[in-house]
Amino acid sequence: MYDAFNRNINYLRISVTDRCNLRCTYCMPEEGIPLLRHKNILSFEEITDFVRTAVSTGITKVRLTGGEPLVRKGIVELVEMLGQIPGIEDLSMTTNGILLKKYAHDLKKAGLMRVNISLDTLDPERFREITRLGDVQDVLGGIEAALDAGLKPVKLNCVIKKNRLEPDALLVARYAEDKNIQVRYIREMDLDNGIFYEVDGGEGGKCNTCNRLRLTANGDLNPCLFDKASYNIREMGALNALSEAVKNKPACGTLNRKGKFYNIGG
Ligand code: 5AD
Ligand code: SF4
Repeated sequence: MYDAFNRNINYLRISVTDRCNLRCTYCMPEEGIPLLRHKNILSFEEITDFVRTAVSTGITKVRLTGGEPLVRKGIVELVEMLGQIPGIEDLSMTTNGILLKKYAHDLKKAGLMRVNISLDTLDPERFREITRLGDVQDVLGGIEAALDAGLKPVKLNCVIKKNRLEPDALLVARYAEDKNIQVRYIREMDLDNGIFYEVDGGEGGKCNTCNRLRLTANGDLNPCLFDKASYNIREMGALNALSEAVKNKPACGTLNRKGKFYNIGG
């Protein structure tokens, strides 16, 4: 579907859970967040039905996000269900990598094509500071497993304060070069204050070519990170929500959205 600004909307990002096994300082408060109620979380059937409809309207790329998608129980089954939908040309996931060692091979077998893994530093102490809970070795094991499973291409997401010459970012760059992996540098954004940036080496943040819709774990279809328009697929039905979201996708996001990345998937 084309929107009012002639952008071909073909990319759907799905947050499958608002939960996460880390607490990155720029994303979540230390004590965690008030979680969505179980009954409000879309079931795998609901997600799959929605994606089938979305594909019929022109969606060809689907990315699973969170929270952390791998903490959703049965995530491999969901990937398998989505993997069987004809018309998805690109099925990917953004993960913090902590659980990837355990799941990479099963995800690949289920039909996942590729992964983006968040890695902000290689320094174990800095990693613990940033994520509050994480062990960088788990992520490195996850990256190896993803490479080994053939989830190609593996890309890294590296959050930076200002630029890619910061010490943490340089460590990530050196590691990635060594492994021949691409890095996307993402400047730390402040959703509360509507401060967002283009992704260096990626597609995010470029309003004039933005081709995305976002589905939250509770079924809100959002046309833009920085706009309050939202269409619940349970309340409106898939097709209605899709056509309203596309029709009302703003030229460029302006409004502040209260919240952080954990519930909209970055
Ligand atoms: N600014 C920039 N990137 C963020 N992410 C989460 N919160 C922010 C923020 N405030 C990133 C994570 C991950 C992706 C899902 O979103 O680091 O790579
Ligand atoms: Fe979890 Fe990702 Fe948020 Fe970190 S940035 S707390 S890994 S959802």
